[in-house]
Amino acid sequence: MKNGLEDVVAAETQLSDVDGDAGRLIIRGVSLDRLVEHATYEQTAALLLDGFFDRPITAADLQARLGKARVEVFAHVAALDDALVALPPTDAVRALIARLFDGEDFDTAILLLAASAVFLPAVLRLRDGKTPVAPNPSLSQSADILAMLTASLPSPEQVAALDAYLVTISDHGLNASTFASRVIASTKAGLTSSVLAAISALKGPLHGGAPGPVLDMLDAVGSAENAQVWLGQALDRGERLMGFGHRVYRVRDPRADALKGALKPLAASGQVDPGRFGLAEAVEQAALAILKQRKPDRPLDVNVEFYTALLLDALKFPRDAFTGVFAIGRTVGWIAHAREQALEGRLIRPRSVYVGPMPQAA
Ligand code: COA
Repeated sequence: MKNGLEDVVAAETQLSDVDGDAGRLIIRGVSLDRLVEHATYEQTAALLLDGFFDRPITAADLQARLGKARVEVFAHVAALDDALVALPPTDAVRALIARLFDGEDFDTAILLLAASAVFLPAVLRLRDGKTPVAPNPSLSQSADILAMLTASLPSPEQVAALDAYLVTISDHGLNASTFASRVIASTKAGLTSSVLAAISALKGPLHGGAPGPVLDMLDAVGSAENAQVWLGQALDRGERLMGFGHRVYRVRDPRADALKGALKPLAASGQVDPGRFGLAEAVEQAALAILKQRKPDRPLDVNVEFYTALLLDALKFPRDAFTGVFAIGRTVGWIAHAREQALEGRLIRPRSVYVGPMPQAA
């Protein structure tokens, strides 16, 4: 038995490959750095989904269908009552997704891709006492998310930054939420059920729930001069440094640099708080040094969540909504894996080793 199934191979996939020693991520034959530089969210989604449904999928077709689907799912926003709006945003989004019908077809997939993109901004606006903004089907998914969040047209740099984020996190091997999605798909329960299970797995702080705490940590550190002392005291208390360490990567997570790169045009146009960016770089350097010193046998480097925190903060998402934005981007990976599992895999049913008491002899 391998605790946490570490290094256990549980699926064959043509979707993505995570090389933890080389620090390399390949998404359907394209390395992440090339994908982020050249592909939009819609192109990346088409790349991941093509071949898993009963029709060829192109980015242009996907963009048009997503626009219509966003308008269709917006009707469900009316179901948000005070009790749902009071929940953490990712939980409220999950509750609304649970209202959608379940199926394995392309239409279900498109609705699910649109759902969290529409529900999250609506939940956030209602929570602030504002009216939800209806989607604009002619915009790209990234531009529309920001428009629904802020009720104004986003800048090209903001759209490019969110697009880069959604591409960067679109798929990542057999992580916990993707595995959850495949387990559900293996029972043929349907894509909506797969996505609901995956969101539930994603929200934990050891998986997708870390970027909010990264900002909390930066706030608590306060200044570059304080970084070393603060981080040392956090480790003394037995805490983990959020945004560092990974189950697979033993070197720097390539997604961290993709996101740091995506932040640069925003920073150059004055749309990132320069103080926070500088502080983050200082904390990163101090954390790497102290982790190397305190955990010499365990290589611990920056993971995707560290620069996610800065990027989503610069785009004006509140920190408790970061996991929800992660879900918007990862839904395409969950759906592609669910379809791959349903089409090619068997029912997932591992065994356990019983270590409990045996029945007493009569
Ligand atoms: N800060 C401090 N120590 C850390 C650490 C971190 N961020 N991540 C791992 N470690 C230490 C553990 O304390 C443990 O030390 P020990 O052997 O002396 O007890 C050792 O490294 C191995 O940790 P383990 O929990 O077995 O690693 P894992 O592969 O199960 O964990 C994470 C991977 C991501 C859950 C873990 O690195 C973590 O909790 N990171 C912080 C949360 C985070 O950023 N999550 C987002 C992931 S993308």
